[in-house]
Amino acid sequence: MFNKEVYTKRRELLKKEIKSGIALILGNVDASFNYPANVYHFRQDSHFSYFFGLENPGFAGVIDFDNDKDYIFGNDFDIDDVIWMGVQPKVADLAAKAGVKNTAQYTEIADFIAAIKNEGRQIHFLPPYRGETIIELSSLLGLTNAEVKPAASMELIKAVVKLKEIKSDAEVAEIEKAVDIAYEMHTTSMRMAATPGRVEQEIAGTIEGISLALGGPVSFPIILSQDGQTLHNHHHDKVLEVGRMMVTDAGAETHNNYTSDITRTVPVGGKFNERQAEIYQIVLDANMAAIDAIKPGLKYREIHFLACGVIVDGLKKAGIMKGNTKAAVEAGAHTLFMPHGLGHQMGMDVHDMEGLGENNVGYDEDTVRATEFGNAYLRLGKELKTGFVLTVEPGIYFIPDLIDKFRNEGKYMDFINYDKVETYKDFGGIRIEDDILVTEGGYRVLGKAIPKTIKDIEDVMSNPL
Ligand code: GLY
Ligand code: MN
Repeated sequence: MFNKEVYTKRRELLKKEIKSGIALILGNVDASFNYPANVYHFRQDSHFSYFFGLENPGFAGVIDFDNDKDYIFGNDFDIDDVIWMGVQPKVADLAAKAGVKNTAQYTEIADFIAAIKNEGRQIHFLPPYRGETIIELSSLLGLTNAEVKPAASMELIKAVVKLKEIKSDAEVAEIEKAVDIAYEMHTTSMRMAATPGRVEQEIAGTIEGISLALGGPVSFPIILSQDGQTLHNHHHDKVLEVGRMMVTDAGAETHNNYTSDITRTVPVGGKFNERQAEIYQIVLDANMAAIDAIKPGLKYREIHFLACGVIVDGLKKAGIMKGNTKAAVEAGAHTLFMPHGLGHQMGMDVHDMEGLGENNVGYDEDTVRATEFGNAYLRLGKELKTGFVLTVEPGIYFIPDLIDKFRNEGKYMDFINYDKVETYKDFGGIRIEDDILVTEGGYRVLGKAIPKTIKDIEDVMSNPL
């Protein structure tokens, strides 16, 4: 937890954004795994964590915009809790750590909210993403479950996005801690992939353990596979074979819930063959050109298309694409190879604030989301501001079903050498992802530099695990 002034200041800034009413921010409750008392690792709601900092399940925070007051609701622990979990601080002591003076038992929240409703004051809340939160909001607000999400406050969503997307120095330091953990995860993954014959699960499990040992849990389920043509491949059952590339897309959380999101792709066995090196270098060129273009004032969508252009140029050199690069990108021909966006914002959620609606976070009045295949998947399109933290994650994938589909539909015949593409159907995929801070003068790549040139990767892999 940061010191209490951080949370007080965040709530003060929110009070400047919202005219009237209250914000009701429910923390998460414990979620059961296979029977009630056997629970998953507790993960606090990121918005509750941002404004109140407390890591306790079953708490709620209220920010009263009319009366400039903040409240924490939570139940004090009883002797049973103490017996099983040790001595626990009182709710009032916990609230003090977040700079909140007004506290009450959670059992009192229903009456508190009912009184606000009776006064006809607006109750702002954010869109819930867990069943328990929907049920609780439904009961507190007198809405059906189905009515809860649509009733979320757009005024609060916009205000929270405005505050949270600009990261403070302390937040950036947290994200850098998470990237440094990812450094250990990824260099371990590389060294383990130097040994063919190993099952992917062994590597995925080992690097998940590194995250837990050095920080918190992984920031999303690890993507690790030599079938990297499947973009989010969570199956780790393949035996690693020389000739395949292994994608590892994995990040960690810190104790304060800040995340990293890094992808590296390496040749099983530790040496790139000629075909792998050629395609890898194109993705790396796109990654570095995109990073280098980052600066405030530029729309991220422009940088996305810049990266797509680098990919088309490279694939033309490899004989896989043809024609005019600009026309190919405008037509969307690159989407056969990179059917996703260049990146997204990051923070306490690895796709920062995605629960508030991707378009509310990555787009605005000046930047409307594309609707066509591929480009529509770009999560961040709007103008960059100093203090944004985002990912740059271009890729090239040879997805046999997509190749067949586009070819059968006669798509992009002027830009794609399909006969050549056929010979890559066994290739898999490559993605390279880094976490970047937008600075006044441009950008800063966050954390300890994780090897990504062909030479640096081969060097790491020359020391197998
Ligand atoms: N790293 C996974 C993703 O960004 O979707
Ligand atoms: Mn990502």
